[in-house]
Amino acid sequence: MQISFEEEQQVFHLYNDKISYVIQVEKQRYLKHCYYGKRIKRWHSGIKDYYYDRGFCANPIAEDRTFSLDTQLREFPESGQGDFRSPAYELEDRNGDKNARFFYNGYRILSGKIAPDGLPHVYTDADTEAMTLEITLQDKVRNQRILLYYTIYEDAVVTRFAKWINDGTEPIEICRFLSMNMDLPTQEYDVLTLSGAHTEEKNVYRRPLCADSVTIESSRGTSSPQATPFIGLLSPGTTEEQGEVLGVNLIYSGNFYGCVQCGQYGTIRVQLGINPYQFGWQLSPGSSFCTPEAVLVYSVNGLAGMSNTFHKLYRTRVCRGWYRDRERPVLLNSWEGMYFEINEEKMLTLAEEAAELGIELLVMDDGWFKGRNTDTTSLGDWTEDKKKFPDGLQSLAKKVKQKGIDFGIWFEPEMISRESDLYREHPDWVIRSPFYEPILSRHQLVLDLSNPAVCEYLIDAVSKVLVSGNISYVKWDMNRHLTDLGSAYLDRKNQNELSHRYVLGLYRVMETLTERFPQVLFESCSSGGGRFDAGMLYYMPQTWTSDNTDAVCRLKIQHGTSLLFPTVTMGAHVSACPNHQVGRTTPLATRFAVAAAGNLGYELDLKKLSKEEKEEVREQIAEYKRRRRTVQFGTYYRLADSFQENQSAWNIVSEDGMEVIFTHVQILARSAYRVPVIRLKGLDPDAVYIDCETGQEYGGDELMYAGIRIPRIRQDFSSTTMVLRKS
Ligand code: GLA
Repeated sequence: MQISFEEEQQVFHLYNDKISYVIQVEKQRYLKHCYYGKRIKRWHSGIKDYYYDRGFCANPIAEDRTFSLDTQLREFPESGQGDFRSPAYELEDRNGDKNARFFYNGYRILSGKIAPDGLPHVYTDADTEAMTLEITLQDKVRNQRILLYYTIYEDAVVTRFAKWINDGTEPIEICRFLSMNMDLPTQEYDVLTLSGAHTEEKNVYRRPLCADSVTIESSRGTSSPQATPFIGLLSPGTTEEQGEVLGVNLIYSGNFYGCVQCGQYGTIRVQLGINPYQFGWQLSPGSSFCTPEAVLVYSVNGLAGMSNTFHKLYRTRVCRGWYRDRERPVLLNSWEGMYFEINEEKMLTLAEEAAELGIELLVMDDGWFKGRNTDTTSLGDWTEDKKKFPDGLQSLAKKVKQKGIDFGIWFEPEMISRESDLYREHPDWVIRSPFYEPILSRHQLVLDLSNPAVCEYLIDAVSKVLVSGNISYVKWDMNRHLTDLGSAYLDRKNQNELSHRYVLGLYRVMETLTERFPQVLFESCSSGGGRFDAGMLYYMPQTWTSDNTDAVCRLKIQHGTSLLFPTVTMGAHVSACPNHQVGRTTPLATRFAVAAAGNLGYELDLKKLSKEEKEEVREQIAEYKRRRRTVQFGTYYRLADSFQENQSAWNIVSEDGMEVIFTHVQILARSAYRVPVIRLKGLDPDAVYIDCETGQEYGGDELMYAGIRIPRIRQDFSSTTMVLRKS
């Protein structure tokens, strides 16, 4: 990869053999976005944006009535200076004045990566993996600087963030400061977003742009199940395999805002960053503020190209630690099988049964700590309930280990119940307004993580439980959103910083704990996939994808999640039927087929399984272990062009290309059956593949071009799986 600056044309060109990103300095002051897309050799000034004398246009250079910030394709637009589209940043000074004029003022080209302070990001293992461009914008009247960082890697990826430095003598308030802005010259795009709800996370929505705007946002304190900090721009007609896609995703776990705004003359503005709603940051003289990092992926190979780039990047350069490249254990989680009804005896029986079936990790979910028999109490008191565990947690962990299975535990550290020792001791540690009783959600309140003492308490409380070394897994949950924003710790003038400081506090807690316990596997959760984002993955390499464990619902959820996140990050469990969320009964084989497309677990009462079902589960686990490397570290392809109501299919190709796992799920059986033809992807067209079960041979070209025909199965919710080996 390279970054060049052409002095004469004032053009920055970031490129590698796949992509080019071009920025130009116009009129010695303004940054113009020229291009982001497939690699070009050089940007010639022959490609112009034609400016005209337009009505209602402010002209910053009075003698040139054709030049207006309102019609320029901008790289990082200010507010209030004649560009009436959505600004990327805004300040307010002590007197309430919001005007500012930041102009271009130099650059640096650096090898390697510059990361935003205290925030998760795409990292590099060596400086040779990336190059960074730093562009300075300066307001000389106010003595403020904004540094824009662009890093280019070997893949079709550019990451961006910005840093604001107050060089002045007066404090200012940052009212808005997004991570990225990019204006594109055409509106010929479909916009794809991932929205949803609790138990219906990451549904795919796609619509053509239509001279209007699309906005996405969360103001819930987390990235949320309702929205995803992701915008996909697709050239019209883009499919899984073909067409141009530009995908922008934010590495952040808190409130965000994103938009695609149509300009009046056929252009668009794309933005993503911290949500300006309920945000403000006091920047004192000499201090700085960094935005979260945005990841811009470009694909010429449709959505699959985009997803594969995100998957590789997130798996190898966002996820970290001991487990990054290690196979993840098959687990049994106690929640749907037992809910709060747990105790030592039950856990030990479960451990025995689980180990016997080949399960490698027993996770004791909610209900193990002091007085926690319902969801109304005890959050914050992270010591075991002596009634349920008379010999203590460590003794239980040891005994579970002795049964040949690892032991893991559930926490919800960011929360506090009113009915808890912690609340009685520290009522001021809660996020709340000083004027009103705080609103409860699931009977609980949120701890004020902007307060370092609260963070220290959490680090200490979780460490005390983990320190014995017998707990090898933590499920880190977060089950309500933030209301009544107010912090007893922060000064009045800093109250608008709370939501972002909450996330910074959380990141610091997670950084400390994951560093302190490097061999503990952390899985994040927020009532399922409510905080399934790249920010959390930087600390915790897997996420509980959804509280919805129904195999049919999961098809859609996992399909949407797979747009951005690799299989190894997705927790997927086989649960009991009728399913606890939707009441549906699906075959055990299909529940496995769907869960086996991610990080496999079971979440049911093993005692309630028949002998035959137990045998089936044992075989499933053995089978999963055989193909686990492929599932967790292979390349994942969605096969139906987009998720179709009555079927879903995917195949995964192992890292070495030798193994292919293909799965097809039929939702409803039909009498007038139409044989689906499913074309596999990512195979070697010249190779021969053998079906491991039947010994049948297929050409890679046949499988990819002619496709597989799925025979009729006269049963709803049926599935077909084929494991193929390259001969
Ligand atoms: C959340 C999680 C569940 C379970 C419960 C426990 O809803 O998503 O998996 O851990 O909390 O209270």
